[in-house]
Amino acid sequence: MTSTLITNIGELVTCDPAHGDGSPLGVVHDAALVIEGARIAWVGAAAEAPAADTRIDAAGRAVVPGFVDSHTHLVFGGERSAEFAARMAGARYDGGGIAATVAATRAATDEELRSSAAARLREMRASGTTTVEAKSGYGLDVATEERLLRLSRELTPETTFLGAHVVPPEYARDRSAYVELVCGPMLDACAPHARWVDVFCDQGAFDHEETRAVLRAGVAAGLAPRLHGNQLGFGPGAQIAAEFGAASVDHCTHLSHDDVAALREAGVVATLLPAAEFSTRSPYADARRLLDVGVTVALATDCNPGSAYVTSMPFVIALAVREMRMTPGEALWAATAGGAAALRRTDVGSLAQDCSADLALLDAPGYVHLAYRPASPLVACTWVAGELVHDTGALA
Ligand code: NIG
Ligand code: FE
Repeated sequence: MTSTLITNIGELVTCDPAHGDGSPLGVVHDAALVIEGARIAWVGAAAEAPAADTRIDAAGRAVVPGFVDSHTHLVFGGERSAEFAARMAGARYDGGGIAATVAATRAATDEELRSSAAARLREMRASGTTTVEAKSGYGLDVATEERLLRLSRELTPETTFLGAHVVPPEYARDRSAYVELVCGPMLDACAPHARWVDVFCDQGAFDHEETRAVLRAGVAAGLAPRLHGNQLGFGPGAQIAAEFGAASVDHCTHLSHDDVAALREAGVVATLLPAAEFSTRSPYADARRLLDVGVTVALATDCNPGSAYVTSMPFVIALAVREMRMTPGEALWAATAGGAAALRRTDVGSLAQDCSADLALLDAPGYVHLAYRPASPLVACTWVAGELVHDTGALA
């Protein structure tokens, strides 16, 4: 197995409190790390670094854990720029455009879906993302939902069955028949390709009884629950997430006092998606209220053609800092270790010994630059499981 020493790291963020001053970010200055095969073999002060087969000089740049984008709708057909333009001219976002993406996705070939999703994944890698969750939900019939999950599985193990995204137009007069389809034949076809089950529990999507029915069926089929909730208005999403012991409830734009308490009690991660608020011109989630009472917060892109056609976690970090008053450190933690918690993963999201060698080298001296220099392409190199998957040549 070959080993690589990355040394002369000006600022290394490990997200391992065993390093640095004991804070969650675990920052080491003048640091080095050793990658052995797909894993992190050693982390510490550059002066104490062991020898390795090859050596990379970071020249004082910062290294951070690869971003864990725990909420995306990666595989879809078409685009909805006209809907975005209408919204910027004053139209409201209500999820109604999902039907347009469903039609475009059903009409797309496997090859078209595969190549557009791969292009988005390349953008993600180039902005430092190393773990990606991907949902179905733009098929809404058995064959297309199965197809979306099968294609998603080619790109990531973190696949989520979202047959309960909205009720498709052909079932508009018989919602319960659609819920039965989702809980029956659709779940049977999709479960072999999925790790998670998700429901869009919100105004205009699925109500509390429908949400519970789909989660119950998903769990019985061996999938782990997560939810879209509390995006478009107050509702039962957060409480149902707590009741089911879901890994995460995502959006959390409208939370009551009791919702926040339930999330904290049940240890459900609140995944915030500020790119959706940005792109729908909606009020941002109250990150401070969650953080200040000790709810675990994750940040993700929500990459999808309607509410947030965004692939960049650094952009999400910048929004979280500027618009949601998270500190740059809180935002980076939420985009790495927080995302890992939202996916119940302990092998990604931090740079501790034995973790997956998933990391990003920044063309900047410190992680604060991610928020301080929004829209600049600051990620010089990205490694996934020890493999260099993005390289701007900055080190040459
Ligand atoms: O997470 N909220 C539901 N689903 C997506 C948006 C879907 C769309 O508009 O296409 C979201 O924001
Ligand atoms: Fe979403």
